[in-house]
Amino acid sequence: MTSLLGGLTPQNFLTRHWHKTPLLARAAIPGFLGFLTPAEIKTLATRADVQSRLVIRTGKRFEMRHGPFRPIDFKSLPDRDWTVLVQELNHWVPDGADLLNQFNFAPHARLDDLMVSYAVPGGGVGPHFDSYDVFLLQGFGERRWSIAKTRDLELIPNSDLKILKRFKPQSTWDLDAGDLLYLPPQYAHDGVALSECFTYSIGFRAPTHQEWVDNFLDYLRDSLVVKGRYADPDLALQSHPAELSDQLLKKIRDIMQSVRWNDADIRSCVGRNLSEPKNHIFFEPPEKPLTKARFMAKAYEKGLRLNPRSRLLFRGNLLFINGEEILFKGETRRILIQLANNSQLSAGGNLAAAADLLYAWYLEGWLN
Ligand code: SIN
Ligand code: CO
Repeated sequence: MTSLLGGLTPQNFLTRHWHKTPLLARAAIPGFLGFLTPAEIKTLATRADVQSRLVIRTGKRFEMRHGPFRPIDFKSLPDRDWTVLVQELNHWVPDGADLLNQFNFAPHARLDDLMVSYAVPGGGVGPHFDSYDVFLLQGFGERRWSIAKTRDLELIPNSDLKILKRFKPQSTWDLDAGDLLYLPPQYAHDGVALSECFTYSIGFRAPTHQEWVDNFLDYLRDSLVVKGRYADPDLALQSHPAELSDQLLKKIRDIMQSVRWNDADIRSCVGRNLSEPKNHIFFEPPEKPLTKARFMAKAYEKGLRLNPRSRLLFRGNLLFINGEEILFKGETRRILIQLANNSQLSAGGNLAAAADLLYAWYLEGWLN
């Protein structure tokens, strides 16, 4: 763990760097070369259920194409200046989900996904900034990262790709396999492949205030029950019948002011929202489901893994899984907190108290 953060403890990393300043950690994961070959990433990028992009550079111009691609799309590419990127690698490759576990010092509530890019020399997505905290972990090959702290975040207009109009690097490093660069949000950066290379990006989302408020208004719309109906036995004669009267506006204002929400609403809204999978995520129920007894026997023998697409969070006696809220307590709570924290339950544990929920989730395809 200490090499991952350049010798810092997770606590020191959070205090000094997280959401504040970059950190370069050489040999963060010694011997790490990644876990994909160029052929494998290209195959992933041909799948309709995988989100992928291809970015081709011509001088200072970048062109982006969205997947799914055909194998032939890659055959016609030159030897230089392009990169292919695949989102949510943790959903598709078990090694990807395991890699994310190394970043367990940051809360799951903030985790977005693991992205991977494969680039040929000169390839990259251009100078840009992200609204994410991101750990850029170098896999096989070398990449040159240049970064800058700047307020000048103006983008080149009319481009799908959010490329900075001006970029003056303040620091530049060549990253080799196993090196890690952490960047807080809004840091301008540009990664150019020096050789054929892979970069694994672990991204942590920071939603805008507008997004939080929109989510909360959606939550309130679904959960508020307001009684009563407009009544005006006290109606006063108006000189302009078309005018909205003080009396009417005040009555409506009083209705609005009767709307109440509390910490429990915030908790439910945040838990449901942050555990909600993105719109394009689907779960496949098992084709020939085991009986509950067989499922539990297998869980005892081999343990259980949360489907990497599932999001499982908790607070107090409430558990949130894939947008749903469940009250849990006692031994069930103990077991499911372990599953939430580690994304798995080891073999040999007594899972009886949580059997009903675990089996229901297995039937949904939320567990493997
Ligand atoms: C890349 O892997 O080329 C881009 C990653 C990033 O800049 O966030
Ligand atoms: Co970036």
